Amino acid sequence: DEIDKNGYEHYMLKEIHEQPTSIGDTFRGRISIDKTKIFLGGIIDVMPKLTQAKRIIIVACGTSWHAGTVGEYLFEEYARIPVEVEYASEFRYRNPIINQDDVVIAISQSGETADTLAAIKMAKEKGATIIGICNVVGSSIPRETHAGVYTHAGIEIGVASTKAFTSQVTVLTMMAFMIGRKRGNLYDDLYKKLIHELTLVPEKLEIILKSENYIKGIAEMYKDATNALYLGRGCLFPVALEGALKLKEISYIHAEGYPAAEMKHGPIALIDENMPVFVIATKDKSYEKIVSNIQEVKARSGRVIAIVTEGDETIKNMADHVIEVPDSHESIAPLLTVVPLQIISYHIAVMRGCNVDQPRNLAKSVTVE
Ligand code: G6P
Repeated sequence: DEIDKNGYEHYMLKEIHEQPTSIGDTFRGRISIDKTKIFLGGIIDVMPKLTQAKRIIIVACGTSWHAGTVGEYLFEEYARIPVEVEYASEFRYRNPIINQDDVVIAISQSGETADTLAAIKMAKEKGATIIGICNVVGSSIPRETHAGVYTHAGIEIGVASTKAFTSQVTVLTMMAFMIGRKRGNLYDDLYKKLIHELTLVPEKLEIILKSENYIKGIAEMYKDATNALYLGRGCLFPVALEGALKLKEISYIHAEGYPAAEMKHGPIALIDENMPVFVIATKDKSYEKIVSNIQEVKARSGRVIAIVTEGDETIKNMADHVIEVPDSHESIAPLLTVVPLQIISYHIAVMRGCNVDQPRNLAKSVTVE
């Protein structure tokens, strides 16, 4: 058991630290050596369907649904295909409208989630093309799909998903770029730049992981919180959802993720000096907007912990704490910014004496409906 944990106190911590390697394993052999092409062998046969799809429907549960929501932003931005992200359990029971030129993408770490499996069986019967993004090779979902891409994150034991999530996002990012290229939306230079940016993620994550002790110090300050709010915009909104889920799953602190601008339609009423607000605020096209959102929180005495691009002095002067991540293209930011949030949740849960790898009432794989 101790050997499996490779010297780490918990599987979750080991899996958090494995991410530079697991993400590398996800794109290994799928990006050409000269970093100019993406090949996803498992979906070659359905590429014509995918590039001409009228609509992509992503079905998933839990953390995989959050990865799918990152995928929605990236697919719409780069592939320019309309995307709907559905909770598998809602989708399957509501007589959804599915056409033959729809492509359904099922995302599942285990490949065994009962609702996701049932959702794709139904969509398949209605004539849609089904693609799987799964981690466990040979599991039930990949066996039901027409095509798929394995995430190759390696076995994940911690119930709270970490490396499986970043590998799912890596696959979706590759797919978005590749489809965008095939559909003529991405010119050579941008396509190469995006691929290059993706290949830099492992080394940038190594840098983030080196600041674990600093991040643990922040965790110490908020370990007794009873509530927490997570805010992000664009493809960082699903990262806010995932950050909140990680905290509530393993530390049992009530946490909510919100699109930053929606805060004023509800959660702002909860903000006082006892409310930690985690804001994912790296430099991208909505940067100015998120800076205003931070001001709104500070004006109500909330505590702001901001995940920022290295060297950001503006937010440093406003927030209570900043956690810096290396500069990157905005499409890559979900992969970088989620990791400090995983680390914070992990340390808060350990400090609260929680069973991090096996939180109460949760299962790694939900095979009941
Ligand atoms: C459970 C797990 C989560 C996971 C979800 C979906 O709730 O605890 O970590 O995200 O199921 O699982 P899947 O295997 O389909 O990704």
